[in-house]
Amino acid sequence: MVKILKHQRLNETNYRIVFDSPLVAKKIRPGQFMVLRIREDGERIPMSLADMDAEKGTVTVIYQIIGQSTTLLSTKKAGEEICDLVGPMGVASHYPEKGNFMVIGGGIGIAPIHPVAREAKKRGLHVIGIIGARTKDLLFYEEEMQKVTDELYVTTDDGTYGKKGFVTDALKELHERGKRIDHILAIGPVPMMKFVTSTTRPMGIPTWVSLNPIMIDATGMCGVCRVSVGGKTKFACVDGPDFDGHQVDFDLLTKRLSMYESYERQSLEKFKRECAKEAALKKA
Ligand SMILES: Cc1cc2nc3c(=O)[nH]c(=O)nc-3n(C[C@H](O)[C@H](O)[C@H](O)COP(=O)(O)OP(=O)(O)OC[C@H]3O[C@@H](n4cnc5c(N)ncnc54)[C@H](O)[C@@H]3O)c2cc1C
Ligand code: FES
Repeated sequence: MVKILKHQRLNETNYRIVFDSPLVAKKIRPGQFMVLRIREDGERIPMSLADMDAEKGTVTVIYQIIGQSTTLLSTKKAGEEICDLVGPMGVASHYPEKGNFMVIGGGIGIAPIHPVAREAKKRGLHVIGIIGARTKDLLFYEEEMQKVTDELYVTTDDGTYGKKGFVTDALKELHERGKRIDHILAIGPVPMMKFVTSTTRPMGIPTWVSLNPIMIDATGMCGVCRVSVGGKTKFACVDGPDFDGHQVDFDLLTKRLSMYESYERQSLEKFKRECAKEAALKKA
């Protein structure tokens, strides 16, 4: 069992959760992820590292409510426990040796770029951050990102905060102004990562992305997380999750991510009905 030390709602859909997990906290590196199981009969859900503190023995995850498991997780309170948390999984992010390193986080992707930016700064790189969300209320970690970047640019799709537009608009503007960008890591929804890579391809900027296919075992055994990179099949859980974005087949990834959509919808509806029944019984 793994204890929840803090659980905070950041906005309408995103939560920040801190777990007591000393062994994982000691070993995990930015770019790696963990696999959580909330209850014994529940599914295993992969979650990226948003922060860790080896001294305190804690790891932090920021998650978005999507379906049944993330809804269930959101009902847990600080002091309660989840069934297990396994990690570190995957390969840590890599960094250029020198130069200007840009990290781009879209939506929930802001969480995993945070520890990568901090590590890059520690390594002496000049870190340029771009973070973006659909609207002001969905933006989080601006202050935290300010601390781990040398320059930070914020965008919202609807212009309610920062610069109006997408993260790629900020990227294009910086490039047009002559800013040197040597290497990029972009994390966020698949369409955003796809768009970043199609923007940087003609600019000739090496661009890595962190892929989020459906995972089951996360140890390279089931093959569910397979992605196509440079025409070769890779398992995101052990070969990634970071890959050269210019080589990724994003259309295949999109197709595979929606494979179980109808089952996931049914499962969430069933879960909500059960919760409502339980609440009614408690009231009676
Ligand atoms: C390496 C990795 C890191 C991730 N990091 C984060 C993170 O930091 N924060 C965050 O909010 N989300 C993260 N995700 C996505 C997260 O795992 C899914 O949102 C979660 O599993 C959804 O579960 P659910 O039961 O709530 O939704 P469901 O109803 O089960 O699924 C809704 C959608 O979530 C995705 N999904 C479902 N099951 C899985 C699974 N086992 N593995 C991956 N995706 C799945 C699919 O796109 C699916 O259509 C990450 C995924 C991967 C692969
Ligand atoms: S999740 Fe099973 S091989 Fe990657």
